[in-house]
Amino acid sequence: AIERTFSIVKPDAVARNLVGAIYSRFETAGLKIVASKMLLLSSEQAEGFYGEHKERPFFPHLVKFMMSGPVMVQVLEGENAIAKNREIMGATNPADAAAGTIRHDFAQSIDANSAHGSDAPASAAREIAFFFNENEIFSR
Ligand code: CMP
Repeated sequence: AIERTFSIVKPDAVARNLVGAIYSRFETAGLKIVASKMLLLSSEQAEGFYGEHKERPFFPHLVKFMMSGPVMVQVLEGENAIAKNREIMGATNPADAAAGTIRHDFAQSIDANSAHGSDAPASAAREIAFFFNENEIFSR
């Protein structure tokens, strides 16, 4: 089925001029960028977005990293978009990511792992609504 998923190009990748390279991976895989913007996350946004990880030991470091520079947030649309995006991103830890994936090819560490993608339909819906109004999304 045609799905929407939410994606972030993280500060490490924006800082290294990898926005276009990562967007190209999405488009080559058949995922359409139907919404996109650059922003510097506030602490409320970073903590709220990653609220499910609040009790994890890495949470403070994750929030600090995600606020360390601008990010690109986008909505991707396409057949099986949630799983497809996770496949092209690769494993969370770049050390475990398969060759040819975004995290294998571009990421620097488990924090500076270049991209975030929703893991399930419910999180995709929550994450899209966290950053975008419906009138900012251009289904094609
Ligand atoms: P992301 O998909 O954005 O979701 C939460 C992020 O926490 C994850 O990518 C990693 O960048 C970061 N993180 C840091 N340490 C860990 C860890 N031990 N397990 C999972 N995620 C971690």
